[in-house]
Amino acid sequence: MNKIKLGTTGMEVSKMGLGTWAIGGGPAWNGDLETQTCIDTICKAVEVGINLIDTAPGYNFGNSEVMVGKALEHLDRDKVIVETKCGIVWDRKGSLFNKVGDRQLYKNLTPDSIYEEIDKSLERLGTDHVDIYMTHWQSVEPCFTPISETLGALMDLKRQGKICAIGAANVNVDHIRDYLEHGELDIVQGKYSILDRAVEEELVPICKENGIVLQAYSPLEQGLLTGTITKDYVPTGARANKKWYQKGNLERVVDMLEEWRPLCEKYGCGIPTLALAWVLAQGDHVTLLSGATSADQVEQNVRAADVRLSEEDVAWMREKAESLDR
Ligand SMILES: NC(=O)c1ccc[n+]([C@@H]2O[C@H](COP(=O)([O-])OP(=O)(O)OC[C@H]3O[C@@H](n4cnc5c(N)ncnc54)[C@H](OP(=O)(O)O)[C@@H]3O)[C@@H](O)[C@H]2O)c1
Repeated sequence: MNKIKLGTTGMEVSKMGLGTWAIGGGPAWNGDLETQTCIDTICKAVEVGINLIDTAPGYNFGNSEVMVGKALEHLDRDKVIVETKCGIVWDRKGSLFNKVGDRQLYKNLTPDSIYEEIDKSLERLGTDHVDIYMTHWQSVEPCFTPISETLGALMDLKRQGKICAIGAANVNVDHIRDYLEHGELDIVQGKYSILDRAVEEELVPICKENGIVLQAYSPLEQGLLTGTITKDYVPTGARANKKWYQKGNLERVVDMLEEWRPLCEKYGCGIPTLALAWVLAQGDHVTLLSGATSADQVEQNVRAADVRLSEEDVAWMREKAESLDR
């Protein structure tokens, strides 16, 4: 598994990281998984060369972090880059965010909230430091906190040794400039799949210019780009309101994936592997986070790191995906 440098931190992150949103279970996904399945999935990822595990308190109210913590008990902590987030809370108020089940989530990036959040995350993860600490969603009114203030708290946590690198998710270019002006930013997380290429316009170039690692999330469109979802699928939880799961769109995606079959033969891989390899082919500073709920899925997905798609095939896949938007 190739690795790339994380800014000036001295850390190197694998081109593919494991996302543990679904491992956290709860109403956003298909309910809770067996703890052993979570541990096996995470440990398999590390065994096959993935060194970055992404989680967040917001993934089922801390449960994803708890599962990562349980897996860490079986792993060499020094060899794993643990990435978690701050800014989505449920036990204090802020600006309204999503409702998950019957519980309301809020956006809150005030220093007070962050100081409290990091300690809770460290406890759930069973570790004394987080390697990458990331703002999960950026601040909005009415509980707006300027990036300079949020960053002040993050830099302080870095000095204290509780976190080692700073990241930001769901940002635009103005946010990135603000982070760079007031402190530092080593990694940015944004939604990026062959079906959702919005980051290409501004985010990909600004990250490249500033040596910021770009981490693509939901590269399989939450499982849609795997060939396992059929035309009669009825989306629930976090998939329910997503564009490509809506009636009409879903059928066209399933048809597109059928057209990929000859490429699967050519590269000797499955559809999910091809979808992930396409994202990895978009640039050296692009990494991805692949979610998985079993060790088998991890084994299949990790193969994408070894598939080298030809330029013609990358362009052909893009053209097919673009035609769905027309
Ligand atoms: N910063 C943010 O706002 C943000 C937002 C979203 C995600 N993320 C991060 O990015 C990670 C990845 O994104 P994601 O989990 O949303 O979506 P994803 O990686 O696009 O899809 C993950 C889901 O696809 C299915 N899957 C994966 N590999 C498969 C395979 N080989 N065969 C069949 N099905 C397969 C699984 O669904 P089943 O469980 O149904 O099998 C899995 O849970 C997250 O886990 C999270 O860490 C961050």
